[in-house]
Amino acid sequence: MSIEKALEKASLAESLGSAKRSNSIVDNQTESTHPNDAFDAFFLTDDNNGNANAHSSNVGEKNIERFNWEFLHEHGFIDPSVGHMKIAEEFRSIKRPIMSNALGGIEKGIERSNLILVTSSVPGEGKTFSAINLAISIAAERDKQVLLIDADVAKPSVSRVLGIKRTPGLIEYLEGNKIDFSDIILQTEIAGLRIVPAGKAHQFSTELLASNKMINLSRELSERYADRIVIFDSPPLLAATQAEVLSSMVGQVILVIEAEKTAQNIVMEAVKKLESCDVVLALLNKTQRSMDMNYYGYGQY
Ligand SMILES: Nc1ncnc2c1ncn2[C@@H]1O[C@H](COP(=O)(O)OP(=O)(O)OP(=O)(O)O)[C@@H](O)[C@H]1O
Ligand SMILES: [Mg+2]
Repeated sequence: MSIEKALEKASLAESLGSAKRSNSIVDNQTESTHPNDAFDAFFLTDDNNGNANAHSSNVGEKNIERFNWEFLHEHGFIDPSVGHMKIAEEFRSIKRPIMSNALGGIEKGIERSNLILVTSSVPGEGKTFSAINLAISIAAERDKQVLLIDADVAKPSVSRVLGIKRTPGLIEYLEGNKIDFSDIILQTEIAGLRIVPAGKAHQFSTELLASNKMINLSRELSERYADRIVIFDSPPLLAATQAEVLSSMVGQVILVIEAEKTAQNIVMEAVKKLESCDVVLALLNKTQRSMDMNYYGYGQY
């Protein structure tokens, strides 16, 4: 298995200790459908102008989320307006097999191949960093539409990193019938990139993520808009059940592994939770190839 090779390559160190697994996935939601126009408001408005190097959009100015590029630069994120960035190069090769699966899902027999979950075994391995960079990298391509969903609802980081303050988000949408899906989608200054924030903290967020409404949402996102890429940022697999629940709703899982830190047995414990997934890709993060820059290895399970 190439994930083992990838782990070997990263010469993973000491065990970080065992993590609890809870099997209590409760569904307390009733079946729900989505009016087509709510989805179309997001998906059928193709305002990607195809200019890969611009921070731009055709949506009304006041509704556009603008990013703090200085902060993002400082923290190693891709800026599509900058010509040559090492991180952009790295994500160009990281995204290649992901996009090939996403767009060739039917031929490859991968269901929901355009839905991509970014997770890891334990906290802090670089999920949010990778999810945002992957989203920016794909969205910067001509004619590509990406929806980045912050599904780490207990510890929302996509909004924090990107400086997004607006609500409601995924939790409010899942909680009731008052909010349409189109209400929680934010257009950003990168024309092909939209974001769904996590929303408010909720006592039953795990149950909401496992609900029929969430299942219907993921089905809708995969069936009607197979050419659009949906990326979910999530919590670690061994810390809570959310990521495992979400993994059953997506076609591809990216398992971010902090190289030289996360122990192999920990990673394999996480991989076991993904056994039913069609595609699990291992992304080695924070390797020591260079003092200042991070190298990404890549493997397929
Ligand atoms: N390749 C990288 N290069 C530079 N900084 C990185 C890299 N990967 C992660 N980081 C930084 O490491 C920290 C942890 O990363 P991140 O928040 O993405 O992890 P996470 O897995 O999402 O954590 P959590 O489990 O808490 O959600 C952040 O400050 C992030 O900017
Ligand atoms: Mg995170």
